[in-house]
Amino acid sequence: MDKLAIQGGMSLSGEVRISGAKNAALPILCAGLLTADKLHLGNLPKLKDISTSLTLLGHIGMQVCLNDQGGVDLHAAELSRLEAPYELVKTMRASILVLGPMLARYGEAKVSLPGGCAIGSRPVDLHIKGLQAMGAEIHIEHGYIHAKAGRLQGARIFMDTVTVTGTENLMMAATLAQGVTVLENAAREPEVVDLADCLIAMGAKISGAGSDTITITGVDSLHGASFNIMPDRIETGTYLVAAAMTQGKIKITHTRADTLDAVLDKLREAGAEIELGENSITLSMQQRPRAVSLKTAPYPAFPTDMQAQFMAMNCIADGVATVTETIFENRFMHVQEMRRLGANIEIEGNTAVIRGVDGLQGAVVMATDLRASASLVLAALVAEGETTIERIYHIDRGYECIEEKFSQVGARIRRVH
Ligand code: EPZ
Repeated sequence: MDKLAIQGGMSLSGEVRISGAKNAALPILCAGLLTADKLHLGNLPKLKDISTSLTLLGHIGMQVCLNDQGGVDLHAAELSRLEAPYELVKTMRASILVLGPMLARYGEAKVSLPGGCAIGSRPVDLHIKGLQAMGAEIHIEHGYIHAKAGRLQGARIFMDTVTVTGTENLMMAATLAQGVTVLENAAREPEVVDLADCLIAMGAKISGAGSDTITITGVDSLHGASFNIMPDRIETGTYLVAAAMTQGKIKITHTRADTLDAVLDKLREAGAEIELGENSITLSMQQRPRAVSLKTAPYPAFPTDMQAQFMAMNCIADGVATVTETIFENRFMHVQEMRRLGANIEIEGNTAVIRGVDGLQGAVVMATDLRASASLVLAALVAEGETTIERIYHIDRGYECIEEKFSQVGARIRRVH
């Protein structure tokens, strides 16, 4: 298995180009199932999760061809099977996003229940409950979700918990339902809005995306479209934290600042100077970061996908900070590994108390989940000596060319096969 070897101590400077958003691309790829026409997607990130999703869609029978602008052309004219097998779903939970589109267009779907993952049990009960409210007959047998429906019927659905992929699955299903669907307590994440924008380009009738109430008026069919995936706000935030921790100055290009307010506010609170351009963010940090406390919550509050990265910064910050995780029940897997680097972190329930230390020491550490792995890269950038991060397949799921992008801004990082 590949590892990353990182020599700490360099201040980052230069430019980083951001890739398309993984968490927008994954539902939008599945939206290709909703039409018999071609869907042309641009700015697709080159990530393991994307290739897994394309493999699954190909398995179902969608024609997938990578175009020469680094995008992909999808065509789901006829599907050969209406199932997402365990072998594929177990490697990527977001495979559940084929359920809504498959049911809406073909009236049938057999999708493996995604297992849990390192950060939590990750149930999909709200996906199922919402589809049942739209008239689907669903039962679970031998680890598979078996779903059947005539034409789905519009319904008013209150989501007990804010769920990003739950909102996305139901929004996609509702585009072809008979009548109007209202999703209440819907997720407001920018990736939900990006999916809605793509669906609207395909002829869907959707209003309210980005608010907590989304209204979808079903249509008989959707047509093809060309659509560019939005920039990845979590990749953006990760490189901004790296610049802040290493007291450097980097310009992030091909990104958007309007999806990162909570993160930018916390970086300013830590002492960073931030300048916003048309599609760029420039951060410079002249001194040791100040400790910043935070609490994760659904968008537009501070994103759980940036929690581990800020914990890394707090490890070497001036002061004491608390980090409270309210979305997932086990998203502190990085704490043990950071302690190996010399961090001073105590966990009390879903809150970590981090006392900034003057420096970390390089060591061998292990990646456990996507964002935890990224936070270990950040900690390694400031640790004294060499840090080796094992099991970096977690990182490759969500960060395109991470060692090349960090090397371009002066990090001493190399992949060890
Ligand atoms: C999406 O996961 C993202 N993944 C996650 O990013 C992100 O951390 C998460 O949203 C929260 O922002 C993708 O978009 C592919 P949820 P998702 O459903 O949709 C509970 C990354 O690092 N819940 O919003 O699976 C659930 O247990 C990944 O890129 C139910 O109880 O998350 C959790 O506590 C990690 N029942 C809360 O809701 C359900 O049916 C939020 O989960 C669904 C969810």
